[in-house]
Amino acid sequence: MRASGGEYRPSSNYNSPFWTTNSGAPVWNNNSSLTVGIRGPILLEDYHLVEKLAQFDRERIPERVVHARGASAKGFFEVTHDVSHLTCADFLRAPGVQTPIIVRFSTVIHERGSPETLRDPRGFAVKFYTREGNFDLVGNNFPVFFIRDGMKFPDMVHALKPNPKSHIQENWRILDFFSHHPESLHMFSFLFDDVGVPLNYRHMDGSGVHTFTLLNREGKATYVKFHWRPTSGVKCLLEDEAVTVGGNNHSHGTQDLYDSIAAGNYPEWKLFIQTMDPEHEDRFDFDPLDVTKTWPEDIFPLQPVGRMVLNKNIDNFFNENEQLAFCPAIIVPGIYYSDDKLLQTRIFSYSDTQRHRLGPNYLMLPVNAPKCAHHNNHHDGFMNFMHRDEEVNYFPSRYDPVRHAERFPIPSSVVTGRREKSIIDKENNFKQPGERYRSWAPDRQERFVHRWVDALSDPRVTHEIRDIWISYWSQCDKSLGHKIATRLNVKPTM
Ligand code: HEM
Repeated sequence: MRASGGEYRPSSNYNSPFWTTNSGAPVWNNNSSLTVGIRGPILLEDYHLVEKLAQFDRERIPERVVHARGASAKGFFEVTHDVSHLTCADFLRAPGVQTPIIVRFSTVIHERGSPETLRDPRGFAVKFYTREGNFDLVGNNFPVFFIRDGMKFPDMVHALKPNPKSHIQENWRILDFFSHHPESLHMFSFLFDDVGVPLNYRHMDGSGVHTFTLLNREGKATYVKFHWRPTSGVKCLLEDEAVTVGGNNHSHGTQDLYDSIAAGNYPEWKLFIQTMDPEHEDRFDFDPLDVTKTWPEDIFPLQPVGRMVLNKNIDNFFNENEQLAFCPAIIVPGIYYSDDKLLQTRIFSYSDTQRHRLGPNYLMLPVNAPKCAHHNNHHDGFMNFMHRDEEVNYFPSRYDPVRHAERFPIPSSVVTGRREKSIIDKENNFKQPGERYRSWAPDRQERFVHRWVDALSDPRVTHEIRDIWISYWSQCDKSLGHKIATRLNVKPTM
């Protein structure tokens, strides 16, 4: 007997040379049910049979409400450039410092077993197991998002998910919902572009998307955006390629990731940041905290910070993918949120869904638990497997030496204002998607137009909705709107 109660139980530590029940009793026949005579009926007292079926009946947990389909891998993050003037984050303290990480790439809309070749954003979530707790950078492959207020997120996901009646994803529902939301145009300029179907998970960018705040030792705050760039470049699948790849293997992305790590061809990304002085946030024609905007790289250049290498495959898909839980609220000293409203909503939503999906003790699961020492009095509940041997489980106490951690800086800016329910002032929905479209070569523009014509040709898309989209794209770029209208045989209204 190796471990005492309360320790994590790797099956190999307990492996018995013979079959047993879950409670450890020997099983002398795992082939046949216990019956009256040779032909049955079966006796309910066959506890082993009942236990085996009952466990099987409960093997699945609820899949993630979004990002259900994913693949994960482990590795390390290494600082390559000094950013200690910007942040006191311990894991970024000096070049050469390495931190273990786990990454989960995902598609967004469809189910746990859906094809990995669909036009869909890709999740790009990284958990850094730092010495000062975990830091989760829960991003996507695109640097912007569809909406800027979390109030709209459930409706948005309902529109993108399959029709509740037929369980088929339908363009008319998507184009109807987003026709009310021109802030989505920039995101659609990524989704309907070639990058809308990445070649696999190794050849795509990643982005923290939101504006976060870095805080240095003196408490000085700097706005920051995080960007991952794959060293092997960004590659995509065009429509006919996606059909072939997906038709042959609906798990091609998972397989590519697993096989390349197994072959020693370790995927690598460089981490860059863009930084902005919060004092300058009013200087631009867009709101820097607006998640539908990028910060122009000529004004805010990409600054290198480090590299991430994935050099270890997971050992168990259920433990290290299904039970893996990321949350944008999980930060470390030296990194803070911004007032971006979408980020603020996410701070609530992830741990909430994980308490439902995995149970209240999901942060005790080895893949989610911090690797550094940790202590508090939040305990017990369903499936607690922390064996505590302290007598003092309240705070403060003169018997318990545990004290507060040293204070670390948080933003010192003053927050005031009336209660409001409103949209932001500088919406500026059309400029950046228009610039993006104009930056492409003609053949790339042509594919973009083709995809829009195709989507808007759905017979259930009404004239009104078609007109709205043509007007939106015309406001981004006159010739783009004109091309879509001409192909659809519609007269542009502006
Ligand atoms: C208010 C807006 C949003 C809400 C309410 C929301 C909510 C959720 C929820 C409930 C999950 C499932 C988590 C789980 O079961 O473990 C999830 C997963 C995820 N979300 Fe969001 N989300 C929002 C916006 C975003 C944005 C803007 C991004 C990208 C920056 C993003 C990236 C992800 C990723 C990558 C995952 C999968 C994490 C994993 O691999 O386990 N989400 N989101």
